[in-house]
Amino acid sequence: MILTSAEQAMLDGKQGKSTQKAMEILATLGRIYRADRMVPVKSVQIAGVSYDNLGEAGLDWLQEMADGGGKTRVLTTLNPAGMDIKNWQSLGIDPGFARNQGRVIDAFEKMGATATCTCTPYLVGNLPQFGEHIAWAESSAICYANSVIGARTNREGGPSALAAALTGVTPNYGYHQEEFRRPSLTFKVGVKLSNTSDFSLLGMLIGRKIEATGNKLIPYIQGIEAASLEDLKAFCASIATYGGTGLFHMENITPEVSQFKPPIETLKVSQAELDDTIQSLSNANSEEVDFVSLGCPHLSIHEIARLAELLNGKLVKKEFWITTARPTREIADHLGYSLIIEQSGAKFAVDTCCVVAPIRGRFRAMTTDSAKACYYASGKNHFNVLFKPFEEVVGEALK
Ligand code: F3S
Repeated sequence: MILTSAEQAMLDGKQGKSTQKAMEILATLGRIYRADRMVPVKSVQIAGVSYDNLGEAGLDWLQEMADGGGKTRVLTTLNPAGMDIKNWQSLGIDPGFARNQGRVIDAFEKMGATATCTCTPYLVGNLPQFGEHIAWAESSAICYANSVIGARTNREGGPSALAAALTGVTPNYGYHQEEFRRPSLTFKVGVKLSNTSDFSLLGMLIGRKIEATGNKLIPYIQGIEAASLEDLKAFCASIATYGGTGLFHMENITPEVSQFKPPIETLKVSQAELDDTIQSLSNANSEEVDFVSLGCPHLSIHEIARLAELLNGKLVKKEFWITTARPTREIADHLGYSLIIEQSGAKFAVDTCCVVAPIRGRFRAMTTDSAKACYYASGKNHFNVLFKPFEEVVGEALK
């Protein structure tokens, strides 16, 4: 792999110890994936921010990088942390955990990262352009950036994303290159999609079919007439979770699709399969539910407006977390939505989510409209789950 003189200087330690380590990580990755060179990135999104996932070893490494003089060279945003950074007490977070989570955020901020802890950075100022190279690590956001925006990123891990932030470059391989963005399997979708939860289920179904092939295929999706930002946000989270998909092309919807012909190998997606997917997802009933969560991925301001409309003048009867980015919450404050929502007893869980917060075993069963949240709620947090559309999730909270 050819390095520029500036990149070689970083590798030789001329820009400090942390930058040297960062360049070592990237050069090693570049060699493994046979990259020809580095490409400059416009922004970075770092995952692995919750202390619940990082643990002490992860925090030690971050502090070492911060103490070694590492400074971000491009816009760098963070994925959700393990708690609402300002309002963690109301979510029942342990003070010891809060102290450690604070140390994680301090280390990132010392390096120049922006602590907008969200998995929807594209809604709050980290919005790449078509064709731009970026280095992102949150799976749903990667899928959104590659597919819906047409930006270019591989699925980075926490360390490689931080390394890209500290050097401003990433190895040129995979989704950064034209030839690795071609679709390889067509999906003909013959289902009725009425809301974001239908898109969430569709992403899960297509993701499972890709997973079953045993290959990391790029789907070319036909048969969808329209999709809102929120529909695509939900679809990206599911297809990335269940299929490991970082890029898809969707006829009439995504920006690169016209460059390609549909691949000959085709799979069909039927309404009966979608109905079966709903059944397979839930293992709890309404009576068991003691936790309600909306906002996986983090809610947009349109979704918060709808929520305020549904909760206006009502009182929730269960622990109900609304997860979103802090800047989105601030817009909701200005528009009066936050007051309506909080008067209902529902809680904003800003900067965090029901998956990365340390709530393992704290609830019996959770209801949500996100197939991704269902996957991790049972796998990581040991909750039973009840999957429902957005409006019905709110209905469950009011029962
Ligand atoms: Fe975001 Fe947490 Fe879901 S990071 S995509 S809300 S699991």
